[in-house]
Amino acid sequence: MAFSLKALASRNLSRSVRQFSSSTQNNAKVAVLGASGGIGQPMSLLIKQSPLVSHLALYDIANTPGVAADLSHIETKAKVTGHQGPDELQECLEGCSIVVIPAGVPRKPGMTRDDLFNTNASIVKTLAEGCAKYCPKAMIGIISNPVNSTVPITSEVFKAAGVYDPNRIFGVSTLDIVRANTFIAEAKGLDVSTTNCPVIGGHSGITIIPVISQCTPKVSFGEEELAQMTDRIQNAGTEVVNAKAGAGSATLSMAYAGARFTFSLIEAMNGKQGVIECAFVKSDLTEATYFATPLLLGPNGIEKNLGIGTLSAYETKLVKDCIEELKKNIKKGEDFAANN
Ligand code: NAD
Ligand code: LMR
Repeated sequence: MAFSLKALASRNLSRSVRQFSSSTQNNAKVAVLGASGGIGQPMSLLIKQSPLVSHLALYDIANTPGVAADLSHIETKAKVTGHQGPDELQECLEGCSIVVIPAGVPRKPGMTRDDLFNTNASIVKTLAEGCAKYCPKAMIGIISNPVNSTVPITSEVFKAAGVYDPNRIFGVSTLDIVRANTFIAEAKGLDVSTTNCPVIGGHSGITIIPVISQCTPKVSFGEEELAQMTDRIQNAGTEVVNAKAGAGSATLSMAYAGARFTFSLIEAMNGKQGVIECAFVKSDLTEATYFATPLLLGPNGIEKNLGIGTLSAYETKLVKDCIEELKKNIKKGEDFAANN
């Protein structure tokens, strides 16, 4: 375990493992749907490190037996099972307390996240139907893009099944916070492990709104530098897509972010106080009916939406400018769920 703690080398991952090594509730069953993919494999590896997880269930339409066999040889506690194809989805999902979903296609250069909608909407809808049927009380973390639409799809599926709880369905936007922390700490020479910048709104382009005025420790940027930093955070996904030149989008950093979010959920479910993560959730804070903000997590998911807080004039304009786009993305997801 010493190796894994060192390798994880992050405040959230290593903190989770350390703080809960003495916990008595180390029994979460976590499912990863899309487990054989670019995100699924490394994220499953990170989740396999945690003593809080008793069972890691891996689902994909391809290659799960190999990924599961490989991970199952690691000398950590979690039992690993592989489930391939729709006939094995039920067994994967039953008894899960958390389901993380990175199933679906990634972007290539020149594409927007919305360009993934036609393929990923039906993948997410089918998997959400499985979750609503086989683990309706589980916390659901949606990674598959476009998150601004796939989260509303998931909610509509849960509503149709009569098991909807908005406190348990999350669009995983953690990578935006991870990136903001990294870029700001680099720019200001800060210790990244104690840098924390909330990112609100949604998860695509102008809907990604870093709230740099609320960063801790407090940072200050000139007007131009602030605009450049904001733009870099908003377009960091595209930076990776272009660097990978056709080989996909962010996988390793997303695996880290997805594991961080999963561990925060488990910590909160185990009763730890003060666990806060930003995520894209059902919200009545703006005209957009889903909006990412910092959330206080608890045993039943969202304990309290901590809201938007005080914004600078610059950030207020960013929020105003993204609402129509968000509403459009949300409606697209809801319409898809209604018509399919
Ligand atoms: P990938 O192609 O490497 O892996 C996707 C996996 O999903 C594959 O193993 C594939 O077999 C599987 N899959 C496809 N259809 C499935 C189905 N019906 N049921 C189960 N599994 C299925 O892609 P990736 O790089 O891992 O990215 C996955 C998704 O995550 C993409 O949509 C990408 O845009 C998104 N993403 C989101 C964020 C975020 O911040 N939320 C960050 C990075 C990537
Ligand atoms: C990201 O932010 O890296 C993901 O949403 C993947 C992408 O398409 O950019």
